[in-house]
Amino acid sequence: MSLLLVINGTGDNWGPEPWRRRFSERLPGRLIASSTDSGHDRAAFRYAAVWKPEPGLLAGYPKLEVIFNLGAGVDALLKDATLPGLPLVRVVDTDLTKRMTEYVVLHCLMHHRRQRMLDAAQSRGEWAAKDQWASSAMRVGILGMGELGCDAAEVLSRIGFDVAGWSRTRKSVPGVRSYAGSEELDAFLGRTDILVALVPLTPETDGILNRSLFERLARDGRLEAPVLINAGRGGLQVEADILSCLDDGTLGAATLDVFRTEPLPADSPFWRHPKVTVTPHNAADSDAEAISDYVVRQIERFERGESLQNVVDRSRGY
Ligand code: NAP
Ligand code: GLV
Repeated sequence: MSLLLVINGTGDNWGPEPWRRRFSERLPGRLIASSTDSGHDRAAFRYAAVWKPEPGLLAGYPKLEVIFNLGAGVDALLKDATLPGLPLVRVVDTDLTKRMTEYVVLHCLMHHRRQRMLDAAQSRGEWAAKDQWASSAMRVGILGMGELGCDAAEVLSRIGFDVAGWSRTRKSVPGVRSYAGSEELDAFLGRTDILVALVPLTPETDGILNRSLFERLARDGRLEAPVLINAGRGGLQVEADILSCLDDGTLGAATLDVFRTEPLPADSPFWRHPKVTVTPHNAADSDAEAISDYVVRQIERFERGESLQNVVDRSRGY
């Protein structure tokens, strides 16, 4: 019944200690060990709770029964060809979902209210023009209407934005128009002023945020040009295309939380680009307390003989 922690991330939350503390409180009497601890018996572990484990590492634990990914996206794990063929559970939790919705709402409002332009005007001591349209005049498109996309779409719609979503299968979210499948992608893009990317990174979505897609966004919106917000994964974006589209006006601005290389290298042009807002992959961080509690609830279900929830469909890649 022991739990193995394999946690490789950046930031205070992404070392083993906060997770070990919380799991030890919630699973008293069980061995909770980090893969970096020495001297443990690899055959003792039944569960692994992981974030970006080194490829090949989990294959060295012969008695694992379930792998818990400590975030929503499993792209890094699925790249490991040696990953044991066990149930792989990802995070679906209100704490994570609300964090992402906060991020999406913040950045949609920032572009809609042109806050960066107003900040620049303030720094010049300039009383900027007051022209401001209503949120209903701003068409937000959510690319990826899953757990995170649907919640953000619903809240944006309640604020008054004109919201639509695109996914593989059709959705029913109050006030939100649903587009489904590749045959409806152009119609979705053609009515979108602010594009929010929340699709998982899979072989099908790798590089989906490219010049061809940006050129199909709406050209008749209130902003000078459409805006991109990517809070999904860096692998979704063709970074040279974002830069050239910002420079030639195909895109008006971008908020980027994720990048092909993280942390973003010091010489990346995104850092100082006047039309880019960079955040350090913190749109929806996994809180050690909330997400450990989620994993413990899944372990309790499993040990009662109930089915695990949010098991990744490996054939779809998410
Ligand atoms: P999810 O529930 O699995 O939703 C994924 C959505 O994308 C679904 O609506 C799915 O369509 C759609 N989709 C996937 N492949 C598609 C394709 N080829 N064509 C059209 N639609 C496609 O995932 P989630 O929990 O919302 O999380 C989404 C992603 O957010 C994660 O994978 C992760 O990469 C990212 N994320 C980032 C952060 C951050 O801090 N930046 C934090 C958490 C998560 P169907 O519904 O029809 O299947
Ligand atoms: C974070 O990026 C996650 O996938 O939860």
